[in-house]
Amino acid sequence: MRRQGRTDMMSRRSMAVAGLVLCGLFVLTAAAFSAGGGAPDIIPRLTGADDPMGDIKAPPLDRPVTDDVRRMRNYPEQPPVIPHSIDGYQLTLGTNRCLSCHKREFTEGSGAPMISITHFMDRDGQVLSDVTPRRYFCTACHVQQTDARPLVPNMFRDAKDIGATQQ
Ligand code: HEC
Ligand code: HEC
Repeated sequence: MRRQGRTDMMSRRSMAVAGLVLCGLFVLTAAAFSAGGGAPDIIPRLTGADDPMGDIKAPPLDRPVTDDVRRMRNYPEQPPVIPHSIDGYQLTLGTNRCLSCHKREFTEGSGAPMISITHFMDRDGQVLSDVTPRRYFCTACHVQQTDARPLVPNMFRDAKDIGATQQ
């Protein structure tokens, strides 16, 4: 019985010490904040200053880039970006508007670059005579560009500009 009493005392004492330490920490943090001029600034939201739950008019869509200039790829295996508008192009299970120009059989008439050989390969590397199902939904990889202002600065550096250089 006496032993149990002692343990009780000890746990009560250690709880009091823990409480004191917590209070100390709180006072220190509060002091640090007031020294720095209050709570840290909230970083501006990417969505703008409007109330996120407010009834705000949707901004107009950005204009697609339609200059027809094929863009340089940033690394060899990048899916090239689409340099023309794809507004209203149907891309469903039954209809693929993209293939009506980019399919091998239609490229002579359309002047569009043919989908590359990888688009004919199934997952075992077997080359099929038509586009492989895993490359059917073009916009899963290829994206249109717009004149939208980037939300954050782009720090991308080309692989040729970093690492070891060849003399
Ligand atoms: C009316 C024909 C036509 C249709 C439909 C079409 N394209 Fe194109 N596409 C072209 C032509 C022509 C080019 C060559 C650049 C140019 O003239 O715009 C091109 C270029 C591209 C390129 C750039 C290739 C490169 O090497 O830079 C991609 C990617 C592309 N198209 C994807 C698509 C996708 C995805 C769709 C469907 C959403 C589509 N295209 C629908 C005609 C078409
Ligand atoms: C799973 C991702 C993926 C899908 C889906 C896909 N592509 Fe690609 N595409 C790529 C990649 C990666 C490249 C560049 C490397 C290569 O050729 O595989 C490319 C290259 C291309 C090129 C340039 C070919 C050349 O020789 O310069 C065209 C045009 C193209 N794709 C059109 C299409 C069209 C049209 C579709 C839909 C039928 C499509 N792609 C679906 C990933 C994809």
